[in-house]
Amino acid sequence: MTITASPTIRRFQPEALKPPRCSEALHRERVHRLMQETPWQIHLEIGAGKGMHALQWAENNPDKTLIAIERTAEKYQVFAERAATKALQNLIPIHADAIPYLVHYIPPASVAACFILYPNPEPHNPAQRWVNMPFFEFLLSRLCPLGQIYLASNIPAYLDEAENRLKEVWQLPYQRYAINESFLSLSAGHRKWPCDNTHPGRTHFERKYLLRGEPCGELSITKPAGHTTHFDNWLPKVTANPGVTGEQGFQAF
Ligand SMILES: C[S@@+](CC[C@H](N)C(=O)[O-])C[C@H]1O[C@@H](n2cnc3c(N)ncnc32)[C@H](O)[C@@H]1O
Repeated sequence: MTITASPTIRRFQPEALKPPRCSEALHRERVHRLMQETPWQIHLEIGAGKGMHALQWAENNPDKTLIAIERTAEKYQVFAERAATKALQNLIPIHADAIPYLVHYIPPASVAACFILYPNPEPHNPAQRWVNMPFFEFLLSRLCPLGQIYLASNIPAYLDEAENRLKEVWQLPYQRYAINESFLSLSAGHRKWPCDNTHPGRTHFERKYLLRGEPCGELSITKPAGHTTHFDNWLPKVTANPGVTGEQGFQAF
């Protein structure tokens, strides 16, 4: 199956993006080692905020690695401090913009699942919503076959629009369901989250919305086996490892 990008969506241009600043050698080594030690077990969180979901998820899934990315310095600081206290070996908090981070550090077909929980709804800039961005195709290229994206929102119209895009542009299978206390109490496989009945919610925003009685929902989007994108063989020319280019760069970093 090949994706058919809409003529209204321009092609993402990864070559235009410089590496984010989080390119310390230690970080590169750690990510690379984890990718080798736990292939197909890499999970991503984009917009991790203060890390509530990331910390709980990593604690409950010790056999899987979570790279949790947050762009805002103040939120990342809180997240990083909490992560340091917990010292979870399988959690990598990253302070970066997720878009250049994925372009420069995540190889194709390497991610089992990606959480995007309560992203900014971008009321004045619909083109910046994740499923509307050309970058979405690049994100798909980084998922392994049958990999999943979990996209949650408290705004039904946001999820309606994302559903339309998934059907009309990206042609991907998905499920949509409500996030409520019974969902949060479920424990099955990797979806095993502790739920405090007084304060339900996986993230700070989810908790806030559920307490307000807002209709939280989620799309679970699957990359079918055999799905292809324009970026399946794309690797950055200037990689995390200075002086090393292309696939070698990923192998060496
Ligand atoms: C509305 S908050 C939700 C935070 C958290 N997921 C929660 O539910 O509590 C959205 C977060 O996404 C982060 N964010 C937005 N765009 C990002 C990007 N390109 N890369 C990394 N983080 C991003 C923002 O800094 C913000 O912390």
